[in-house]
Amino acid sequence: MANREHLFYYAAIALACFALWRSVQGQFTSPDSEPIFVAASEVQSTQHQKLVADYGYFTSPKVPASSPLANANLSGGRQVYAVNCLHCHGSSGRANTPTAALLKPPPKDLFAGTVRDVETVLRHGIPSTSMSSFAGLSDDEFADVRDYALYIVERGAAWAKLTEGNE
Ligand code: HEC
Repeated sequence: MANREHLFYYAAIALACFALWRSVQGQFTSPDSEPIFVAASEVQSTQHQKLVADYGYFTSPKVPASSPLANANLSGGRQVYAVNCLHCHGSSGRANTPTAALLKPPPKDLFAGTVRDVETVLRHGIPSTSMSSFAGLSDDEFADVRDYALYIVERGAAWAKLTEGNE
């Protein structure tokens, strides 16, 4: 009869595991059993949805067909940007990085727009600041990262337009 006894214990353990699993699962789901992160995305503004529909995310950049950057190699530019610019100007261009906090003058928020010609800045740098020349990049890399910087500026301008008067 020992075997039947074992069976009873196995069943009890299985039941306990199931109950534990259900209670842990409850911690990570909202009452209507939707994962919490889905609920968060629902509060995204319609403006932000429009921005992402037109310009993608910084990891999957794109522009509308009417943009001057329509034929740019943005995903290539994104890679050059990640290596050469991101630690100062930030993944979204907002210059809110730990490095940026240490620099005087601080790096510019490219999402808020640029007051200078991007190509000239990249070719010559900005004297007396940590913004150096990137003329040493290959021609392709230079063109791609210039276009990626212009993409951030254009994305920021589109955002400003979408949120106009909503301050
Ligand atoms: C070591 C930090 C650092 C790195 C790396 C860096 N930048 Fe900058 N960048 C700055 C700083 C600081 C300024 C602002 C200088 C000033 O106040 O005039 C600036 C300014 C600029 C501006 C001019 C914005 C304006 O309107 O004045 C552009 C465009 C720019 N950076 C693009 C880039 C790109 C693209 C890269 C990568 C290829 C890059 N930067 C890499 C620090 C950096």
